[in-house]
Amino acid sequence: MDKKYFIAANWKMNADLSFINEYFSAFKSELENSNDMIICPPDIYLQSVMDKAPSFISIGAQNISQHEVGAFTGECSGHMLADHSIEYVIIGHSERREYHRESNEEIKLKLLKAIENNLIPILCIGESIEQRESDQTFEVIGQQIRRVLDRDILSADTQFLIAYEPIWAIGTGLTATPEMANEVHAFIQSILNEIHSSKIIPILYGGSMKSSNAKELLQMEHIHGGLIGGASLDASEFIKIYNIAEEIRNG
Ligand code: 13P
Repeated sequence: MDKKYFIAANWKMNADLSFINEYFSAFKSELENSNDMIICPPDIYLQSVMDKAPSFISIGAQNISQHEVGAFTGECSGHMLADHSIEYVIIGHSERREYHRESNEEIKLKLLKAIENNLIPILCIGESIEQRESDQTFEVIGQQIRRVLDRDILSADTQFLIAYEPIWAIGTGLTATPEMANEVHAFIQSILNEIHSSKIIPILYGGSMKSSNAKELLQMEHIHGGLIGGASLDASEFIKIYNIAEEIRNG
């Protein structure tokens, strides 16, 4: 079966204007593009990235408010993102769950706001090292999905992506083995099937993905792309990962 890949960059709180200028000078216009490339810069640089990035690149935000409008200092609403033609939004990243105490309930509200504003959510889930070592991975992942996604959400005609990011692999240089990641991705797919049998949701892997390990990860049956942090800050490295997905898809 033809598998389309989503290669997404999460720049986190990195980049500035000169970085952005230099970054996109590395992108040649003839870059093949049968798969999707997504870049998620900090909010303040969304417009700059949109102005500089080649048009085949989709732009995403890293967060969204669960509120519509009003006295929520420091927040950015779904309407504001959509107003700037942003297509994607990362929701529930483990750094937000940890440092901003975001709960599954709050994450669900954010996801609903994204959908209301026609933004494509990239829902992040993943277990900690303690949870993995005490055999709680599947339980935690199951909860993170069931508390956020329900039959109504999955029945609606909306697109979204899931990113499996084991917390212990984020920014650590440790990567889940392709088999480990594939096993969790297959489990995620089975839960989605239980909630709604026919919804196909691409599942990306995140956690120290780089050009040296991307091929073996992306070749796995249930892995449909990557959400890449550190390695996405190097344009040539990110393009390499994208081109690996191109090679796999186009033989
Ligand atoms: P790293 O690729 O730096 O491990 O980060 C992964 C991540 O958190 C992407 O959202």
